[in-house]
Amino acid sequence: MNLLLFGAPGAGKGTQSALLVERRGYRHISTGDLFRAAIKNETALGLEAKKYMDKGELVPDSIVIGMVDEELQTLQGQSFILDGFPRTVPQADALDNLLKESAMKIDKAIFLEVPREQIVKRLSGRRMTPDGKHVYHVEYAPPKVAGICDVTGEKLIQRNDDKEEVIERRLEAYDSSTKPLKDYYRKKGNLVELNGVGSAEEVYSRISQALDT
Ligand code: AP5
Repeated sequence: MNLLLFGAPGAGKGTQSALLVERRGYRHISTGDLFRAAIKNETALGLEAKKYMDKGELVPDSIVIGMVDEELQTLQGQSFILDGFPRTVPQADALDNLLKESAMKIDKAIFLEVPREQIVKRLSGRRMTPDGKHVYHVEYAPPKVAGICDVTGEKLIQRNDDKEEVIERRLEAYDSSTKPLKDYYRKKGNLVELNGVGSAEEVYSRISQALDT
C-alpha cells in the first residue's frame, strides 16, 4: 500500500513517516529531506533549491518533479510514503502520470489537520541533528540533555526556515498552493482526514487504524 502524507508545515509528516518506516517497513520519500541533502552536498540542484527554501517559498515544480521521478525509479516494488510531495495541483497531476507509467498508485492520501497556533509552536521549537535524522522539540519531545542529541551526542540545530519570519511565508505558500490538494484527493476518493493533535503515538495509532480498515 502506497501513502501520501500531507498537511501544513510542522503537521508531523516527518515524525509519522519515521514511525511508519520503523514499524511497517515503508520507504520514505521526503522532498524536503532530498533538498536538504543536496544543499549539504552543494550540488547544482541544492544551490538552486536553497534560494527558495531560505525564503519559505516553494521550489519550482519542474525541479521537484524531476527529482521525485528519479526516486520512484529506484523503488523496485517497495511500498512508499511520499512526504511533502505533491505540494501543488500541477505536482499532483505530474505524480499521477509518473505512477501510471510505472503501474503504481497512491492508495491513501492522509491529511493531518493541526490548528495554526499549534503549528507555529511545533515549528519554532523544533531542533535536529545537522543531518536532520534525529528530530526533537524543546517542549514536546525534548532530548535528555538540552541542545544535545540523545543518539549521536551532536549539538542540535534549528532549521533556517524554522525562524519566525520564514515560518509565516511557508504558511502562506501552504494556504495558497497545498491546501487545495485536499479537494483534489477527495474527488479522487482516496483522501483520509485525520486529527494531527495529540502525542505522536496517538496520531500514529489513528494512522495505523486508517491503514488497517
Ligand atoms: P519540508 O522539509 O517538506 O517541510 P514542511 O512541509 O514545511 O514540513 P516540516 O518538515 O517542517 O514539518 P513536518 O510536517 O514533517 O513536521 P515534523 O514531524 O518535523 O520542506 C521544506 C522546504 O522545501 C519547503 O518550504 C519548500 O521550500 C521545499 N519543498 C519541499 N518539498 C517541496 C515540493 N514538493 N514543492 C516545492 N517545494 C518543496 O514535526 C515538527 C515539530 O513538531 C518537531 O519538532 C516534532 O518533534 C514536533 N511534533 C511532531 N508531531 C508532534 C505531536 N503529535 N505533538 C507535539 N509535537 C509534535
